Amino acid sequence: MSRTANTPQIPALGELDRSAGALGRQLAQKLRDAIKSAALKPGESLPSTRALASSLGIARGTVVEAFEQLIAEGFLESSPGVGTYVAHSLAGPTRTTRRRSAGLTESPQPLPESAQRFHSVALQFEPLPQVPFAVSVPVGAAAPSPVWRQLGNRLRAHGTGAPAGYGDPQGELSLRQAIAEYVRRSRSVRCEPEQVIVTTGTQQGLFLSCLVLLGTKDFAWVENPAYSGITAILDAVGEPGRMVRVPVDEEGLDVEAGIRLRADARVAFVTPSHQYPLGMPMSMARRTALLAWARAQAAWIVEDDYDSQLRYSGHPFPSMQGLDPERVIYLGTFSKVLFPSLRLGYAIVPPQLVKAFCGARILLDRHPPSADQYVLGAFISEGHLERHIRRVRSVYTQCRSNLFDIVREVLPGDLAWLQASDQGMHSVLWLASHIDDVAVCTQAMREGVAVRPVSPMYHEGMGPPGILLGLSAFTKEQMGEAAQKLARIISEFSKDVKRRTGTKKSRKQ
Ligand SMILES: Cc1ncc(COP(=O)(O)O)c(C=O)c1O
Repeated sequence: MSRTANTPQIPALGELDRSAGALGRQLAQKLRDAIKSAALKPGESLPSTRALASSLGIARGTVVEAFEQLIAEGFLESSPGVGTYVAHSLAGPTRTTRRRSAGLTESPQPLPESAQRFHSVALQFEPLPQVPFAVSVPVGAAAPSPVWRQLGNRLRAHGTGAPAGYGDPQGELSLRQAIAEYVRRSRSVRCEPEQVIVTTGTQQGLFLSCLVLLGTKDFAWVENPAYSGITAILDAVGEPGRMVRVPVDEEGLDVEAGIRLRADARVAFVTPSHQYPLGMPMSMARRTALLAWARAQAAWIVEDDYDSQLRYSGHPFPSMQGLDPERVIYLGTFSKVLFPSLRLGYAIVPPQLVKAFCGARILLDRHPPSADQYVLGAFISEGHLERHIRRVRSVYTQCRSNLFDIVREVLPGDLAWLQASDQGMHSVLWLASHIDDVAVCTQAMREGVAVRPVSPMYHEGMGPPGILLGLSAFTKEQMGEAAQKLARIISEFSKDVKRRTGTKKSRKQ
């Protein structure tokens, strides 16, 4: 081990907020952050659980709980006689493997800080297995129709999608025309094909927006809670501290709070049609307030419209972009309504930003693969996409109602309950406040249930515990089986906490 850390040697740990409770989760998050920011380096020893507990003035069991959690996540390792230390593998798998096979025992040289940040992004975003409750798994009745395959075969073999030279960095014109037509009709977006930039999905749209719109010292508003695809970009790239987490309530982003926190932010990243992950739409009053702020500050709004076509009662909410096309960058994706491995989406940007977005994307990947753009363009313009959306909406309506029934029947109501929502491809299952959602999800994944915890989607991982249940066209039996496992895991964790703390009642939030 390189050196022994003790509490004063980990200044990044700082103080725990006792009034917020969940001290184990707080400590785990602080340790995670210290590792991500390289304040704790691969191979570095941690103090004993007893020493750390006494220096922080908390129960030893709380430290044990945090250590166990981080061992399960791969951040820490422990071995008899050595104690607990930051996982060597975080220094990079190739280097570690080479050293192990060469019989070298000294600590590997730490990776540069930026490499460590991206390394932890890779751990965080490992794809979920295609089992309940993973989101967007296009199986069974939700699979694209045979037309998709037929069109693909025709266009890729002999048609416009056959191999050719470099394409347009903005995307193929036929697809941009089809997208512009489709979003004008279905999402009240105001645009011309010249404003459409075909992306490899919303993740790229978010990255391009950060690259193009944010200077190194500019601040960005991000919803609290938010999609980790945006928070991870702002954590991993550029100056630390430029992300301002703005609370959301039942009307969506609290614009007044954003103004109080950082009125001079340059960009606001929002999910107005279906707040991610909580699910409510942003009220018209808040949309108007957000646009007024953006106009006054010459700031931009990035609208992530990831799944609003899937509303199960009434019509989808219209886009924010339609209210002010000069201030809003609109991001759409085919990951939810078609399938995520297609890796195609779109950014619709004000005319003055088109060249800047094209320049940034040339440096990333030059342009999206051409062949599937032609297939998708034909699929949309021949009316197949809208037929497909109508079909999957009815499939998912049924799956959703199955999911809600199963949760009500199988999960213990005092420990787990669903957040109401009437659209999209996931729902939040809230857990009683004494249950650690990260630990539950880690165990569920080990047992073959694909779930993600909600608390890490909040600032510093300090949100209430919950589980994201994704919607895909899994059968009722598959969902039922997964829910049984989840129910058992949640009950066991609850009992374990009560045994350790002597609590009798479960605490709903
Ligand atoms: C809120 C939100 N934004 C963006 C994305 C990324 O989508 P894409 O697959 O288009 O990159 C997702 C994917 O789950 C999402 O949930």
